[in-house]
Amino acid sequence: MLSKIMVTGCSGFIGTHLVKRLIDNGFQVTGYDLNASLIRDRNFSLVRGDILDIEKLRDSMKGCKSVFHLAAQTKVPESTKDPLADFKTNSEGTFNVLSIAQEHNAKVIYASTSTVYGAAEMPTKESHQLRPVSFYGTSKAAGDMYCSAFNSTFDLDTIVLRIFNAYGPGNGKGVMYDLFKKLELDPTHLEIIGTGLQKKDYVYIDDAVEAFMTAYEKGASGEAYNVGSGVSTTVNDIAGIIFDTLNVCPKTTYTGESWMGDVESSLADLSKLKKLGWHPKVSIKEGIEKVYEWIQLI
Ligand SMILES: NC(=O)c1ccc[n+]([C@@H]2O[C@H](COP(=O)([O-])OP(=O)(O)OC[C@H]3O[C@@H](n4cnc5c(N)ncnc54)[C@H](O)[C@@H]3O)[C@@H](O)[C@H]2O)c1
Repeated sequence: MLSKIMVTGCSGFIGTHLVKRLIDNGFQVTGYDLNASLIRDRNFSLVRGDILDIEKLRDSMKGCKSVFHLAAQTKVPESTKDPLADFKTNSEGTFNVLSIAQEHNAKVIYASTSTVYGAAEMPTKESHQLRPVSFYGTSKAAGDMYCSAFNSTFDLDTIVLRIFNAYGPGNGKGVMYDLFKKLELDPTHLEIIGTGLQKKDYVYIDDAVEAFMTAYEKGASGEAYNVGSGVSTTVNDIAGIIFDTLNVCPKTTYTGESWMGDVESSLADLSKLKKLGWHPKVSIKEGIEKVYEWIQLI
């Protein structure tokens, strides 16, 4: 019989790619999400549910030997508008997933984020203190720390992945999507949010999914691992690659200010995950070309 795994947030950007990969690797996947999934496969079943619904979560997790926990409120500006809703989904929801996983003796792989570090020293190691500056970063940091508490107190098998900015086909949010869509509407003018000098670590989705698989198979229980590309790229550089891809030369303007809670620079130290044999493979230029191929189809 195939091993059964639960993926919360299975219908989102990373979840969709991860579920496909788990099915390809021979797992039977129970997806748990508020929203419908694009995936149709005999080894995939979807439960439409909320991670705040403990009874449904308990029932759905029966027989699962592991849980990839990705369900979350994922937007920093939303967390500023409604910090309590963000707290409930990300902190309380993660607490629920961990509690139920403990009842079922299931290993948890938690999708944390680089925003838990706040404005950190770079390249940022996992041992860096967590000092989030947004409500999203804080609610995700609580989940990150609950993993640690369940691991050290109850011996629950947990692995935390601190993902930097993941991008790729299927991601209908983030800077690449935003710039392509604006230029589709008007190729002669581009407004960039912020100064264009924000410089972040962007990891291509296939590399991020590979990181989940590596950490799942080889990661040490109770540990956190950074997932990035190890390269920091400015928004202006991304815009430049997109201009070349589209063969356009728009007049570019800047809003000057980014959104509240935005961490404007990030760079991952990846040595910990690399020791497990994982290496990011896709350059930002190759990744943006893949995003463009996808955008032309939608
Ligand atoms: N994409 C990134 O760049 C990135 C970076 C760092 C961390 N992460 C983390 O990775 C995970 C996945 O991110 P993503 O980009 O795929 O996000 P996404 O927004 O595309 O997907 C999140 C999914 O969670 C589901 N969801 C939200 N609230 C829920 C609830 N209460 N109950 C059940 N399902 C719920 C949504 O319906 C959605 O399908 C998140 O935990 C996010 O914090 C993502």
